[in-house]
Amino acid sequence: MKTSPTHINYRDLIPRQKGFVFKFEKKEEHFIHTFSEGDFLTTLGIDSTWIKGKTLFDFLPKEIAKQKNEFYEQAWRGTPVNYEGQMNGYYYIASLNPMVVNGQTVEVNGTAIDITTEKENEIKLRQMEKLSLVGELAAGIAHEIRNPLTSITGFTQIINESIQDPSLKGYLEIMLDELERINNIVSEFMFIAKPAEGFICKEINIGTLISSVLFFMKPQFNMNSVNITLDFDSSITAFCDPNQIKQVLINLLQNAVEATSTNKNIEISLKNESENYFSIKIRDYGSGISKERQKRLFEPFYTTKEKGTGLGLMVCKRIIENHHGTIYIKTQQGEGTVVTILLPKKMNN
Ligand SMILES: Nc1ncnc2c1ncn2[C@@H]1O[C@H](COP(=O)(O)OP(=O)(O)O)[C@@H](O)[C@H]1O
Ligand SMILES: [Mg+2]
Repeated sequence: MKTSPTHINYRDLIPRQKGFVFKFEKKEEHFIHTFSEGDFLTTLGIDSTWIKGKTLFDFLPKEIAKQKNEFYEQAWRGTPVNYEGQMNGYYYIASLNPMVVNGQTVEVNGTAIDITTEKENEIKLRQMEKLSLVGELAAGIAHEIRNPLTSITGFTQIINESIQDPSLKGYLEIMLDELERINNIVSEFMFIAKPAEGFICKEINIGTLISSVLFFMKPQFNMNSVNITLDFDSSITAFCDPNQIKQVLINLLQNAVEATSTNKNIEISLKNESENYFSIKIRDYGSGISKERQKRLFEPFYTTKEKGTGLGLMVCKRIIENHHGTIYIKTQQGEGTVVTILLPKKMNN
């Protein structure tokens, strides 16, 4: 059967859920859409009745319409155009193909295909590349810094113990604090460089482990007038690397304390989730995290703090994944944050 171009069944040409087709013409300097079809339009939140007989400016935000209008211009001049776009969280690739009759464009056929999955994979891959680059850098730098740092810290402690002058002692205390900070950053780097290094698992009581972290962090809670509430199942034991899990708890509690301002309660719960899994939840009533920022939390160097490293959460994720567990964050801006760690009691390999 022969069909004229306007009678092609476009639903057969484009995978229905993955794309849409459209056409436009130029009338009095404006590009008017004459046709649109495809379920991907609905996915994007566009009703095809908004498009027919309309210009880009009628149904898109002005800035986006302007950009697309440029592509339309290019196509109208007779060159096929491909471009990538993003809308309501979806990515697509569009191509505009001018239909030229006697050297004159009479119509442009457009297609758009949903490439959201591909794009998200690409973004993940880029993040992984960034991570491995950080890893390489970290391996080099951390080892170089570790040794001199140990001797500087050691000698500073010796001087601190052997002098009497209180003002000098004050300076030395500050130096020791700052050295500890550097040391913490270097340790975080070491984790990134070789997360599996020194991975020593044993059967431990999780409640006891959390208590030892709380004891260690007590001065910090007191200094910030933070009140800790516990809801513990003290019978839970698991096979894990206690030092690494401690590191996770310290990082998370530190974030919770830093986010807290008016309501200074932090709640920690430890519960059985099933026969083989348990959860640790850390809830704060602090600043919470906006939707925009939530996407970036586990990225290396992503920090909103003047003195932050932006490595804390990433290290947590690494460690939890090494333990075959998961970590997720539920947060509401202005209301607070709950970080949940789900861990197996035994690892299968
Ligand atoms: N409990 C929390 N409440 C509010 N924001 C948080 C919380 N935990 C993490 N964040 C946000 O995530 C960012 C990254 O955290 P992290 O990786 O620990 O690095 P850092 O603490 O050094 O900034 C923080 O800068 C902060 O903006
Ligand atoms: Mg942190």
